[in-house]
Amino acid sequence: MSIIPAGFSAKLMYVVRVALKRRLYQPNHPVTRPFSSTSSPVMASSHGHNGIVPQEDFKILRTVQEERQFSKDVKDVSQSIGLVPTMGALHAGHLSLVRQAAKENENIVVSIYVNPTQFGVNEDLDAYPRTWDSDLAQLRNLNDDLVASGYLGRITAVFAPTTKTMYPTLPPSSEIEGEGSFVVITPLGKLLEGKSRPVFFRGVATVCMKLFNIVKPTRVYFGQKDVQQTVVIKRLVEDFHLDLTVRILPTEREHDGLAMSSRNVYLGTRRRAAAVLVPKMLQIAETQYLQNGKRTREDIIRPAQAYAMKQIAGELQLPPDMQTIMEVEYISLADPATMEEVDVVDVNRGAILSAALRMLPLEVVKEGEDTGENDGSKRLVRLIDNVILPPLQE
Ligand code: PAJ
Repeated sequence: MSIIPAGFSAKLMYVVRVALKRRLYQPNHPVTRPFSSTSSPVMASSHGHNGIVPQEDFKILRTVQEERQFSKDVKDVSQSIGLVPTMGALHAGHLSLVRQAAKENENIVVSIYVNPTQFGVNEDLDAYPRTWDSDLAQLRNLNDDLVASGYLGRITAVFAPTTKTMYPTLPPSSEIEGEGSFVVITPLGKLLEGKSRPVFFRGVATVCMKLFNIVKPTRVYFGQKDVQQTVVIKRLVEDFHLDLTVRILPTEREHDGLAMSSRNVYLGTRRRAAAVLVPKMLQIAETQYLQNGKRTREDIIRPAQAYAMKQIAGELQLPPDMQTIMEVEYISLADPATMEEVDVVDVNRGAILSAALRMLPLEVVKEGEDTGENDGSKRLVRLIDNVILPPLQE
């Protein structure tokens, strides 16, 4: 029987539900209160929403010791932890991972850490968008929503360590030959994205190994958007016998199909409009496989390449203050487990179709033109995207 009397307005019922849920996390309810008073975490401050609805709080943990204590307390009451690793600059893609984690775990830890070792020496580490306040606000709003919608879990901690915490001995190196304690997964990490970003997967595998060791999650959540990253993580977990489950979630897209990405803020209006080329190319290749019965690399990729060439050439016909200069870095058709290129898709295995497009800095900017955050017009933006060609029964 519901303890909420009939006749309550929906909003009031919502407030009551939030309050009840919060009560469950109060002291004297040890089974549903996974936090220890000894972990002395910093509580995120609470802001009223419209002055009525309280916002759900989570702990902000900065050190390995705090995070370990938190995880121990959770495990002591036999609850699960879903870890969502991020570099912040959160958008709907990140939030979709949290939502799925909330269906499957009582506790969600979102890590926010811009990991220096996955940026090459010439890459945009300093310029990577850092939006801490907006990230926390989005997570609090999402938590309210998770509670209101009756999900199993909610975000109970945000882990936001410093680089000294994550790399305690040597300052981390971004040099290819640099010293340090690294997890290297080859040849997987050298292919595709690893070709243009040679230290990237070493950095990702290393930081994820650290996060997994610190948080000890039951499940970890990654987006298919970075498909090679998901293959590297699955390999890491398999080869190092890590006791956790890897969950991969679909790519969240903008209305025109462009995959959401923290880097899209740098595109500006002109390049943003042209960026739709990436999902379009993939869609053309996917149609060849799914609807036209094509199986060879040539038949699947060629029409996509032809379309891209036409679009790119069309842009170059435009006046300099209207054109976008783009280069297809690769269109790949690869094996789902190894990311090695395939000439013919084995329908029993399917394949990963992925692409990278380089959007060059604008050469001529119009007066008053929206050029993207921090004058993104001067920045080369690489867009990556992919679709999975599923196994088929023929
Ligand atoms: P970041 O780029 O912040 O992405 C965090 C997670 O969100 C990744 O698993 C990524 O694949 C997922 N994601 C990004 N855009 C998405 C979209 N449009 N739809 C669904 N999921 C999306 O990836 C990293 O950070 C880092 O490499 C990290 C794993 C945190 C290691 O530093």
